[in-house]
Amino acid sequence: MNDMTPTREQREARLEGMGCKRKRVEDIRFTQGKGNYVDDVKLPGMLHGDFVRSPHAHARIKSINTEKALKVPGVLAVLTAETLKTVNLAWMPTLAGDVQMVLADGKVLFQNQEVAFVVATDRYAADDGIGAVEVEYEALPPLIDPFTAMDADAPMLREDLAGKTEGAHGPRKHHNHIFEWTVGDRELTDLAFDKADVTIKEMISYHRTHPSPLETCQCVCSFDKIKGELTIWGTFQAPHVIRTVVALISKIPEHKIHVIAPDIGGGFGNKVGAYPGYICAAVATIVTGKPVKWVEDRMENLTTTSFARDYHMTTEIAATKEGKVTGLRVHVLADHGAFDACADPSKWPAGFMNIVTGSYDFPVAHLAVDGVYTNKAPGGVAYRCSFRVTEAAYCIERGMDILAQKLGMDPAELRLKNFIKAEQFPYHSALGWEYDSGDYHTAMKKGMETIDYAGLRREQAEKREAFKRGETREIMGVGVSFFTEIVGAGPSKNCDILGIAMFDSCEIRLHPTGSGIARVGTKSQGQGHETTWAQIIATEIGIPADDIMVEEGNTDTAPYGLGTYGSRSTPVAGAAIALAARKIRAKAQMIAAYLLEVHEGDLEWDVDGFRVKGLPEKFKSMKDICWAAYNSVPPGMEPGLEAVSYYDPPNMTYPFGAYFCVMDIDVDTGVYKIRRFYALDDCGTRINPMIIEGQVHGGLTEAFAIAMGQEIRYDATGNVLGGSFMDFFIPTAVETPHWETDHTVTPSPHHPIGAKGVGESPNVGGVPAFSNAVNDAFSFLGSTHIQMPHDFWRNWEAAKRLGVTG
Ligand code: CDP
Repeated sequence: MNDMTPTREQREARLEGMGCKRKRVEDIRFTQGKGNYVDDVKLPGMLHGDFVRSPHAHARIKSINTEKALKVPGVLAVLTAETLKTVNLAWMPTLAGDVQMVLADGKVLFQNQEVAFVVATDRYAADDGIGAVEVEYEALPPLIDPFTAMDADAPMLREDLAGKTEGAHGPRKHHNHIFEWTVGDRELTDLAFDKADVTIKEMISYHRTHPSPLETCQCVCSFDKIKGELTIWGTFQAPHVIRTVVALISKIPEHKIHVIAPDIGGGFGNKVGAYPGYICAAVATIVTGKPVKWVEDRMENLTTTSFARDYHMTTEIAATKEGKVTGLRVHVLADHGAFDACADPSKWPAGFMNIVTGSYDFPVAHLAVDGVYTNKAPGGVAYRCSFRVTEAAYCIERGMDILAQKLGMDPAELRLKNFIKAEQFPYHSALGWEYDSGDYHTAMKKGMETIDYAGLRREQAEKREAFKRGETREIMGVGVSFFTEIVGAGPSKNCDILGIAMFDSCEIRLHPTGSGIARVGTKSQGQGHETTWAQIIATEIGIPADDIMVEEGNTDTAPYGLGTYGSRSTPVAGAAIALAARKIRAKAQMIAAYLLEVHEGDLEWDVDGFRVKGLPEKFKSMKDICWAAYNSVPPGMEPGLEAVSYYDPPNMTYPFGAYFCVMDIDVDTGVYKIRRFYALDDCGTRINPMIIEGQVHGGLTEAFAIAMGQEIRYDATGNVLGGSFMDFFIPTAVETPHWETDHTVTPSPHHPIGAKGVGESPNVGGVPAFSNAVNDAFSFLGSTHIQMPHDFWRNWEAAKRLGVTG
């Protein structure tokens, strides 16, 4: 070795592999305005489609007259349910086993429901056409309050289901009932409550909100009549699933459908499902023979495609007087809107709500979920969450605070007393999950020390006394939240979408000169996959991350994958990437042995190549091996260096975290100030600490928005309140607090690189931290629970109700 020979550290650094704060490679095009989004797709002769929408929440359609609209200059076609019936597409299947109207068929069931699709030469002509479509409605009584959905005299919403006593998930109890899902041992749980020293019961609502990504849902469909091929560019979080769904419902052979998801401007669950816009654009291109573009506007996005949450959770905890939990009983009333279009794995009608025992060692638990129809938009998507985990975490984290209050215990102390202990992992929860790994006490204690939890509680006690003496009008809250997520859907034994197991995939192909391409079944919407996937490969096969191109989102080139949502990309596709890389390394080892004229077993891996054990100068780098793979492979071996891996995970991964929020609230105005927010996350092995921090910042900002103001509300007649950014809270840099981040590392024992997902953790853990801070602030005034969102007005209202302001 001479002085110029790079050291091991230098060779490692050159790879920019796992653990490196590698800068996001995709940002070069994004920051220069060179991203390629669906709306950038402009094809010759392209038409534009847009919807006539219902002003009513519930009404019968007496007639639709399209004659005048068809005379508007530029309008070429107007699709209605009658048109779609000719191709058997007036209704479409939902991911939850229900069916959904594509265009209103006989009646409308929510405000802004799609009634007709106008196709024109440009958006303006389409809009004029929309104005000229004449629809005669007969208003019907709307059903808005989910608590009255199963009343004997509640109006029947879904006439298509009249008389059907069986739904996709078992018996239906009422004409507006969708399913009842129960998990756990009811008898043993009831017994625990009978014997308990202390119990709490509270109705905890997680209000209806919306993922509202910057880019709305959109697509361009182009049908080639000669080849009989349909190409769809769309904002799809799961492009392969879309291709399969289109093949099933259109009967176009799947190999003649090309789905391309170009750059996506945020998804957060909004872009998982199939929407009427996609179907109408596809039918319109077939009817007109021209490409058709559909682009949602902001109000359409907020009011029609995929709401999130709307869970009303009656939460009961049983405990001993010393504060040891002995049972958990939860009943959820789930408002699904007009159609059950939840985007959950098929067998899970309430997603992973059965993670509701959280981070605590509950000996018994029981969960029951009743889904009901109302005159609201369909959806129920996992808004930056793994299928109802956010609802579950909110439920248990509020519940634990309420229990602490009743016991007169500190909420952090109550948590420490009930955490699953490190030595209990793998841990079997009372509701059926096997938690892979965790060290909750270490994480919690680290967080408490960093923020000086004891000091904050002392300060709070002093401030409360000062408030009582009338010396201040501000109250102080310390919000504690300790969450356990369940991400990485998922093992084929319990997760599928429309019968397709939820595996994921990667194909890696290395080129002779030592660079390569990796194609993955996931689809980034801003998470930085192009950066991090290359880092996994760099560490696994010793090729610098800069020399690996990552491609996603084209169903013609990427191996079949189930897409990106529910923080599943790292747990599932991340594992497929590592295993594909290991297959390449195994072949590379055989080639290296041949080149070095030794037995494979005599070689050891050393950062970026193979070395003969005991003979350090005998070394072949991966770059050398790539070249050799194309000209001097061992006799009988196929040339080339590529591999594919489809990964079916053996279990989910269970990231966790300890979050603390310190907040001051002025009782006379309801104005809050978030003084401090500390988030400690444990996502196992960390691929890119800078990207993780970005994910945490983004997720916390969304959690802040949801907890403190963001809501899709309806008035009594079903008018959407919150259908624009004037009413729907999107925090800017002005409102957003400063985030302090921290971490511990507890690798997943079953994941090839030990990584767990992280993208959704901050939303899951953040919402209860904010809400607990508000509730903690008011608790000394006699309040047990104040419903979210905690905007200024609601804070002031709570203060008024508690008699501390006028
Ligand atoms: O499925 P999704 O991409 O939304 O979520 P994720 O798997 O949590 O990954 C989000 C981003 O964080 C990706 O770029 C991951 O590579 C990165 N990440 C990481 O660097 N280390 C982890 N342990 C988990 C995720």
